[in-house]
Amino acid sequence: MSGNFRDRDIISITDFSRAEILHLCEAGHRMAELEKSGRRNILRDALKHRTLSYMFYEPSTRTRTSFNTGMRELGGRYDGFSGTEGTSVMKNETVRDTVTMMCANHNDVLVMRHPLDGSLQWAADVANIPVINGGDGRNEHPTQALLDVLTIYSLREARLDGLRIGFGGDLSHGRTVRSLSLALSHFDDITIRWAAEDFLGMPPDLVELLADRGVKVVRDGSVRDVMRQVDFYYRTRPQLERMPGVKQRDIVSMMKQYRIDLSKIEGFDVRVLHPLPVNSEIAEIDYRVYFTPAQAFFSQAEYGIFLRKALLHEMLGHEGYRRYDGRLPQVLGTGNNRLPRQARGAARSGMFIDRIQDGTVIDHLQPGTLRAVSDALDLENRGYSCTTATIPEKPNPFIKTNLRDLPERDLKRIALLSPEPTIDSVKDGRIAEKFVYLLCANTNCITRTINEDVPPRFFRDGGAIRCRYCRRPYLVSHRKVTAVERKAYVDSLPAVIEPVGYPE
Ligand code: NCD
Repeated sequence: MSGNFRDRDIISITDFSRAEILHLCEAGHRMAELEKSGRRNILRDALKHRTLSYMFYEPSTRTRTSFNTGMRELGGRYDGFSGTEGTSVMKNETVRDTVTMMCANHNDVLVMRHPLDGSLQWAADVANIPVINGGDGRNEHPTQALLDVLTIYSLREARLDGLRIGFGGDLSHGRTVRSLSLALSHFDDITIRWAAEDFLGMPPDLVELLADRGVKVVRDGSVRDVMRQVDFYYRTRPQLERMPGVKQRDIVSMMKQYRIDLSKIEGFDVRVLHPLPVNSEIAEIDYRVYFTPAQAFFSQAEYGIFLRKALLHEMLGHEGYRRYDGRLPQVLGTGNNRLPRQARGAARSGMFIDRIQDGTVIDHLQPGTLRAVSDALDLENRGYSCTTATIPEKPNPFIKTNLRDLPERDLKRIALLSPEPTIDSVKDGRIAEKFVYLLCANTNCITRTINEDVPPRFFRDGGAIRCRYCRRPYLVSHRKVTAVERKAYVDSLPAVIEPVGYPE
């Protein structure tokens, strides 16, 4: 069975095949058996001289310590930071530089958790040693999904096909439900049932993706309706840290009817899973449930050690693993987010740009954004010209400036305020280049940060476009982009997430 994890980055569960997931389940299961039969020590030197660095920008108990336990029991070492207090992140150091440093610190693998979606793909692009995603924003948590699957695999005698699983809690702001449901989508005849408030419900883009991958997703009216029809029930806490402005009190009342107490499980042969932690204030699982046969979340957490140990062993337990080699990351260049447009109607455009020989026309700005965009660019204070204009009868204003080749940060500033601007680069009085600047629409995506300098990249998924980093679908909505231009652009994108920065 296939399972080549040597030197691989572990970023998204969608990068795994069914065979690879099963391979890791078997490997994790073997680790559990070694433990139970008292033979843990036979692997005590397997990762001798290997070092893991953990970089946790967000709180963690289980994920961080179980990776450490895995390293320790395999004879390796670990070091890192847990929380950014006391690190140079407090001095505005970028993820890019911090990751580069942690590679240069003679580590062999990085495990990172960060609040922004897509930050782990970015870390992997920068690092020249393997990177493991310990949770990126509300995006993914692939090793959690693998340990969840290992738990189910172990409790269900290695059968994953035909699984019926319920989801409840906060399905919208968490990452574990996304990764687990995508992991399960590799198996046949999977049914997901869920019941939650609209505000905390399954994200529509995920439901769509699951449907495409053959998973049946059904919304039920109550927790008992779900419990009645599933073998496992997966509960999550409300991710309050990702709901700015929402008070815990309001969430408590919102979730009241969805709490798991004895009355919800009574009469059903169901196992309750939870990635943990349970929020003690909200108590989304009543403590009395802990003492029933339904409780499976603490053994689930222990499977986390077995799974992560197995994964580290597969990744680093061989000679010739990819070590830090002293090289700096390659220049990652500009992204592939510039949708080229024909510079048609040059004469007409010429009408608007007659007074600049060399510079840029920032065109097709959204109505009402002109002031905000010109303030954000602050061109005049930087020593450039800035003419703002709105043409009668045309809703979209534009800006012209003698600054040519706008820096990426300026392009991002524009696109954050006014999505999909058209950029005309003018040289010798003619439009030398014309493109629409696309920026991932997911407001929590790392590509939208200004200081991090992540070049926005997309990849092709069938006829659709997805962000390389957060993997959310992107819809080109620019009115003026023709179907032919759009298709040519989509066809120009890579069909897979290829490594950048460190080609062999
Ligand atoms: C989860 C996480 O951080 O995404 N915790 C974990 O890794 N076990 C779930 C959570 O914090 O709710």
